[in-house]
Amino acid sequence: MAKLYVNPKHQMGHINPELQGHFSEHLGRCIYEGLYVGENSDIPNTNGMRNDVVEALKEMQIPVLRWPGGCFADEYHWMDGIGPKESRKKMINTHWGGVVEDNSFGTHEFMELCRQLGCKTYINGNVGSGTVQEMSEWVEYMTFEGVSPMADLRAKNGHPESWKVDYFGVGNENWGCGGNMTPEYYGNLYRRYQTYVRNYKKGQEIYKVCCGPNVDDYYWTEGVLKTTHAHAEWAHGFMNGLSLHYYTHPDGWDNKGSALDFDEEKYYKTLKKTLYMENLIKGHGAIMDRYDPEKKIGLIVDEWGTWYDVEPGTNPGFLYQQNTMRDALVAGINLNIFNKHCDRVKMANIAQLVNVLQAVILTEGEKMIKTPTYHVFNMYKYHQDAELLESYVETEEIGGEKKVPNLHESVSLGKDGRIHVTLNNLSATESYDIEAVFTETAVKGVEGTILTGEMHAHNTFENPDSVHTEKFDKVEIAGQNLKFTIPACSVLHLAVEI
Ligand code: AHR
Repeated sequence: MAKLYVNPKHQMGHINPELQGHFSEHLGRCIYEGLYVGENSDIPNTNGMRNDVVEALKEMQIPVLRWPGGCFADEYHWMDGIGPKESRKKMINTHWGGVVEDNSFGTHEFMELCRQLGCKTYINGNVGSGTVQEMSEWVEYMTFEGVSPMADLRAKNGHPESWKVDYFGVGNENWGCGGNMTPEYYGNLYRRYQTYVRNYKKGQEIYKVCCGPNVDDYYWTEGVLKTTHAHAEWAHGFMNGLSLHYYTHPDGWDNKGSALDFDEEKYYKTLKKTLYMENLIKGHGAIMDRYDPEKKIGLIVDEWGTWYDVEPGTNPGFLYQQNTMRDALVAGINLNIFNKHCDRVKMANIAQLVNVLQAVILTEGEKMIKTPTYHVFNMYKYHQDAELLESYVETEEIGGEKKVPNLHESVSLGKDGRIHVTLNNLSATESYDIEAVFTETAVKGVEGTILTGEMHAHNTFENPDSVHTEKFDKVEIAGQNLKFTIPACSVLHLAVEI
């Protein structure tokens, strides 16, 4: 019997709701079709936003949404997406799929979407091909209230009140698609561009995110932090957050493999690669510790998730992929890792929200399905705004050559006063007996929810509910302990009353 130890007496940090954030880019059918169908669509919508999708995302308590990219951000000129829709510029989305971008979804529409979702806003600015003036004016347009050319223009376009920009990214992947820069060059540009990301409203300060590394590019992290901190240590590198991008490719970038067609070896390989997220957080965190020992700068994992070959017959530039129980485990592991490192990780955004990469929702015309990954987010929402608790689970190594631990957990004390345990069983075939021990704390009651299935299990438009959560009531309470059996390939949430 494996033991899971939880110490309710030891709180280890606050879990920002934003650790369960999302990302939406002008890519494939994420924005257009997935989120926005326009007011004249037959698909039920409110101000152009799909009602079914908005409702599902609200249920999941989406805390923050990043937009407009991704690589698209460093080619996006925000003024193309404001004003009367019929006069907005039409252009080719050269980065993603070569389709026409009519700019009908722009700043006003993004803010309206976030209003409907009740989530925070994370805007990504353009450093790669945009000017300082353009970025500065975008911030003025969105957040300044008073007499100014941009505030007047916003009012003319139908929105006299300013909006709240919670997070602002100064460029995206500037080591790659955002300009192929060196860390020193970008670091200097970052210092300059961020100067004009002004805070116009007291109490509504913008959280500035500097472009951080790809995967294990420690050279970038060191170079950027050295440059941004030079001669200005007091300013903490002029940033609130530093981003990190890490995708799970089962077989590397050149051979991503299929989302649906994989064997056990590839399953474990995928989970092994996902667990690498923790090494990255520790590695980049150690460099950050030297510049920022008080952990004032957040690590912002604003792109993560699985990236497979596109579904056969779909546009290769649209990055549309299916989503199985394997992806559910990837989500559960990553979210547990973020919780456990909540002292440094302040936001994380899975890529991407709808119809792209590891999406929580897939759509086809008027149909919509929730993926296994959706259900994981819906189960983990109880960790939002909770306090991380000390926990430890006894594990054994499984998975042939690609050794992974059989179990993976995180535990928090929720806002509702209950202890929330999220436990993943990574084994594709074995169930395990578990005894959970709560130090010096009697357990009064427990409610469980489980997502489980064969590793390939997934939802389709014909069978939308094949993978779904179920009540898990086979838990025995004995004083300070709980006993239960966790089935193979599953994500479990226990809400424990103490
Ligand atoms: O999410 C897809 C792409 O992956 C993003 O546009 C880019 O930032 C990353 O390389």
